[in-house]
Amino acid sequence: MRERKVIAPEELRAQEEICGRIMERVTADGQRPLAMVDTYGCQQNEADSEKLRGYLALMGYGFTQDEFQADVIVVNTCAVREHAEMRVLGNVGALNHSKKAKSGQIVCVCGCMVQQQHMADKLKHSYPVVDLVFGPHELWRFPELLEQVQTRHKRVFATAPSDGAVAEGIPVRRDGQVKAWLSIMYGCNNVCTYCIVPYVRGRERSRLPGDILREARELVAAGYKDITLLGQNVNSYGKDLPEPVDFADLIRMVNDIPGDFRIRFMTSHPKDATEKLFRAMAECEKCCHQLHLPVQSGSDEILKRMNRGYDSAKYLRQVALARQYMPDLVLTTDIIVGFPGETEEQFSDTLRLCEQVRYDAMFTFIYSKRVGTPAASMPDPYTREEKQKHFDALTALANRISLEKHAAYEGQVVRVLIDGETGRDEYNLSSRTDGGRLVHLKGDPSLVGRFADVKITASSTWALYGEIV
Ligand code: 5AD
Ligand code: SF4
Repeated sequence: MRERKVIAPEELRAQEEICGRIMERVTADGQRPLAMVDTYGCQQNEADSEKLRGYLALMGYGFTQDEFQADVIVVNTCAVREHAEMRVLGNVGALNHSKKAKSGQIVCVCGCMVQQQHMADKLKHSYPVVDLVFGPHELWRFPELLEQVQTRHKRVFATAPSDGAVAEGIPVRRDGQVKAWLSIMYGCNNVCTYCIVPYVRGRERSRLPGDILREARELVAAGYKDITLLGQNVNSYGKDLPEPVDFADLIRMVNDIPGDFRIRFMTSHPKDATEKLFRAMAECEKCCHQLHLPVQSGSDEILKRMNRGYDSAKYLRQVALARQYMPDLVLTTDIIVGFPGETEEQFSDTLRLCEQVRYDAMFTFIYSKRVGTPAASMPDPYTREEKQKHFDALTALANRISLEKHAAYEGQVVRVLIDGETGRDEYNLSSRTDGGRLVHLKGDPSLVGRFADVKITASSTWALYGEIV
């Protein structure tokens, strides 16, 4: 087994001391400085941004969404598709205006996008507005990097390649009070040929069960009702740990924490999902019967070229098994359309699989070429227009199925967790079923954070509508 690299507690303490020094300096004039954290991409990035805010709060910063007010701006980026990168570059370029207007403003860009050398270089040479660039592996020493920029008045780039480490004890400032992200592992050891994630987030490394359970207990004690266990591939949780523990065991341990809360998780790789996991999900009363199981394609040939490690028959067996354990399972997926060389026939295989599985929701993407991945050098003869046509057909299918599935809820009574206000009059509250379906409600705002039984009265493609019973 590879050595699992851990950041020493003293090193984390040193970062907190730096936060204290920064606080003294930036609040010396008696004014509260402000920071803005802008997040792109997946839930893992949301969780990372909560750590960045935790550090910033410890440095004495308040928070704003207005770049013209911010003394420090942190843009936490995603690299999974070109579209996300283009948005980041556009928005970072536009920070020229706020930087001119607000003297001393510091612009930081971090996350997956900048862990790619060509992107770090691009920022260095073409985006002088940027003061600090650091990849996911350097997040734990953000205070030190920011202090370098503040005191030495020069640009700092920290994006050296790394397998990654585990850093426990970074302060966290969470966004909500009802739902919480809880990272259980970092990185990814798979090499899906289209995917940049393993290159930018490093090797798989699991947090110790004790550290995860401590954080989960703190969340429950603080009143959180919906905990999502996060990992690039949660099904390989524990493979790198000295003690024999897997993801199904971890779910049972979290489930044993006393309290009225829900457990969710994402993402599961179909090649590693086990019967043991489905059994744990079915038997743990706090675990939601919700599974995000990205299939990516319904064509065996494409799955092979994607290096996914399963074929459609194996995938369908898994779905059947999961549904056998949980007849009420809410199942969602990710699908890539237009993988290099994907033919009409291969795309039809995807449509057929989706018809067969009938997902509750599908997240569909047009293939995006990622520099340095194996798929980037595969012949890709089909045009953007052809891919778009397939994408539209798949979206239409996904919407039709979601609409039908949602319509079937009408008249039923379901348990929901009320998680926020919508700002609209007619349906002023938003909530989620155990399966994660969005339900709009009318009710007193004091209900936020409570579970309720709700009768579904109407539905659409995207949401359900109901009344508290
Ligand atoms: N192009 C398009 N979609 C991608 N995804 C990952 N890499 C790419 C890519 N290069 C999608 C996959 C994955 C989701 C998070 O993003 O469907 O499951
Ligand atoms: Fe990418 Fe595959 Fe890892 Fe998911 S499991 S992040 S698709 S390499």
